[in-house]
Amino acid sequence: MKISIEKARVDKVKAEMVVVSVYEKDKLPGGEAGDLDKVLGGKIKDLIKKGDFKGKLSETTVIYTWGQIPAKRILLVGLGKRDEMTLERVRQVAGKAGTRIRGLGLKSFVTAIPETGKKLGFSQVSQAVVEGTLLALYRFRQFKTKEEDKTEIDRVTIICREPKKITEVKKGVELGQIVAEAANWTRDLVNLPGNELAPQRMGQEAQKMARQFGLKCKVLGLAEIRRLKMNCLLQVAKGSRQPPRFIILEYPGKGKRLKTVVLVGKGITFDSGGISIKPSARMEEMKYDMAGGAAVLGAVRAAAQLNLPFRIIALVPATENLPGGAAYKPGDILTSSGKTIEIITTDAEGRLILADALTYAQRYRPEAIIDLATLTGACIIALGHEASGMLGNNRRLLDRLKKAGEESGERVWELPLWKEYDELLKSEVADLKNVGNRSAGVITGGAFLGRFINKTPWAHLDIAGTAWVDKGKKYMSAGATGVGVRLLTRLFQNWAKK
Ligand code: BES
Ligand code: ZN
Ligand code: ZN
Repeated sequence: MKISIEKARVDKVKAEMVVVSVYEKDKLPGGEAGDLDKVLGGKIKDLIKKGDFKGKLSETTVIYTWGQIPAKRILLVGLGKRDEMTLERVRQVAGKAGTRIRGLGLKSFVTAIPETGKKLGFSQVSQAVVEGTLLALYRFRQFKTKEEDKTEIDRVTIICREPKKITEVKKGVELGQIVAEAANWTRDLVNLPGNELAPQRMGQEAQKMARQFGLKCKVLGLAEIRRLKMNCLLQVAKGSRQPPRFIILEYPGKGKRLKTVVLVGKGITFDSGGISIKPSARMEEMKYDMAGGAAVLGAVRAAAQLNLPFRIIALVPATENLPGGAAYKPGDILTSSGKTIEIITTDAEGRLILADALTYAQRYRPEAIIDLATLTGACIIALGHEASGMLGNNRRLLDRLKKAGEESGERVWELPLWKEYDELLKSEVADLKNVGNRSAGVITGGAFLGRFINKTPWAHLDIAGTAWVDKGKKYMSAGATGVGVRLLTRLFQNWAKK
């Protein structure tokens, strides 16, 4: 989609549709809506007075202008209460405007930036407008052979009437577009079903993207995975006809003497549970079990486009988890970096392949390691779909992630990683087992991973509840959300400033 910025006024701009916003309880429309109201002889004010438009969050009304101004139509969008305004609400409102206009069959629109006062920052609000719009307009339709409704919006013009603010708006818009497009790239990958996206294809997609953005990408096959003794990845992959892959994507970073950060993402392209097979209800959702892997690839893409001053490496162990004559079994004992692991259930496969990847990550001697994984159903029980679970060994890193989460709209919530929890992973026959009992499922998942980290600052994000939505939610359409891309990009941006 083409997004452009124009120094223009709403009452002068030519457009199929121009979007302006109004706060709930405002008697007089402010900002750009106020400008329009004057030109239209108080019509907007009248709508509000009569109670036909209340300005409630995400409320919309189309007004025809009948030639009174160059724009053919106006979309009024409600911002909700003024003192409740947040960047997340800006995204939501922008998303709503975009989908409403697409629903009308229009292909382009012009939008003003909601007036939010100084608090949120002009550039950030512009960024949120673009993010909300692009994320909301995303749809996954590769497999629809009959085009039900064809319209796609291909052009959005953002207008700003104050010349002083235009540089800030530009900055925000550019950022928003890069981040949202990276997230949508990730969503495309995550949404692909298991038959389309097996480990091999995941590797190819990473390489294709790397070529496009001038990044280094190595995809290791069976022989190299064997040579590196990634025994857990090999064992999990045994049940599948599809050979595993280990993806290494590197962005060298812009600048001198850069910090290295390694991102690790779970890349189970389909998780049946293996021999410990899952119940069939909603098993199809396990096509999303590589969301962590796709997110770390997308985050590197965004970081590269933004020229961020970090060397960032994404590692993705990719395999299917299937039952079969060759599959690994409950009771098996595997080894990863010298530790023996008793398999209690083959459905706790993510932590196994991540153990190998986390071990590999430490050879870069990174400043930090962050892993993302749809690791436990228990995370959905604990936090629902509003936040990703977070655990780790380094206060500063966790605090940075928390802040980045709040700002990006991809919140995280920390759970403790006290050493007492290690008890739950004690095995009678091996160094540890791959699951505890039913208690503290998210934490034991994290505790297991923590056993494969030496001293490096590390954070684990359990994205089981946030990687996809079954029904559209706020500015997210149903399916993969691309969670992690916005969070990690924000983390690096903030970190770079200090
Ligand atoms: N991929 C699943 C976790 C999952 C389940 C994510 C549902 C999103 C929705 C993971 O591999 C798994 O099966 N975990 C087990 C762990 C348990 C055996 C300790 C789970 O959550 O049941
Ligand atoms: Zn599983
Ligand atoms: Zn899984």
